[in-house]
Amino acid sequence: MKTLYWKDGQLYLLDQTLLPHEVEYLVCGTYQDVIRAIQSMVVRGAPAIGVAAAFAMALADLAGDDLEKAAQEIRAARPTAVNLAWAVDRVLNSDSAVEEALKMYQEDQDTNRAMGKQGAEIISDGDTILTHCNAGALACVDYGTALGVVRAAHEEGKNVKVICDETRPVLQGARLSVWEMQEEGIPVKLIVDGAAGRLMQEGEVDKVIIGADRVAQGGVANKIGSLMVALAAHRFGVPFYVAAPKSTFDHENSIYEIEIEERNPEEVLNFAGCRVAPLLTEVRNPSFDVVPADLITGIITEKGIMKPF
Ligand code: MRU
Repeated sequence: MKTLYWKDGQLYLLDQTLLPHEVEYLVCGTYQDVIRAIQSMVVRGAPAIGVAAAFAMALADLAGDDLEKAAQEIRAARPTAVNLAWAVDRVLNSDSAVEEALKMYQEDQDTNRAMGKQGAEIISDGDTILTHCNAGALACVDYGTALGVVRAAHEEGKNVKVICDETRPVLQGARLSVWEMQEEGIPVKLIVDGAAGRLMQEGEVDKVIIGADRVAQGGVANKIGSLMVALAAHRFGVPFYVAAPKSTFDHENSIYEIEIEERNPEEVLNFAGCRVAPLLTEVRNPSFDVVPADLITGIITEKGIMKPF
């Protein structure tokens, strides 16, 4: 099952807000439809929103829209993942928007398989891997980055188990990562975010592998909660890896200069559609953390494993 696909001049997005209970595709016929889908997290995950952004540019091109204006709006749909700007710029600099988007669609899948192979080398038979958020097939066109590494190790015949942080407030771990691992037949357990430190303290985690929205000078940005996991891993001597394709690398900026998306307070005030906090509660809802380079054991890319820069 693909996270997104292009058919007859339209973009089909697997609606991740409905998973795991309903499997439904949203059809986008305009670039504005894709922007709305990215903002509402119908499609999410850095590589997936990058490829969706490329197809949004293709839709703008087919409709004869002003491409510079479309590019600006698409880049601003979500600010933290660098893949959006990377994808939009690639399409802007190409000869054919649709062909370039289709090329990126294929590249994403090839890259993830190559990254999986590289990363599987650090997985030992019997390892338990803790992951945060969803850096799986659903965050890409297919296969995944962090969960792609797990998939590759599983395909090589290694016994590998996964622990997923639930990942408040959008629950990408509980709803998406657990579902993906179950579909794949990989043993998986779900924990609340606050239990990650406890499990590492008890020696129940061999490695942490997470994805990234941006790898920049000084560290990595990834889903809120990643920093606390990295700090606990450091304290308890658990290797902490980030799996990210080169399209997620930003060589221009310091990780401390980038914009961290702040999302709607309603995500925090409610749980599973029920209001949980008192009326008039003030909220902070940063969607991403910055994990400093010194807490990262290695970055798994399609070309090999490297140190943060
Ligand atoms: O807000 P999201 O769900 O788009 O955040 C996704 C993450 O933080 C992922 O870990 C990251 O994009 C890497 S996906 C391969």
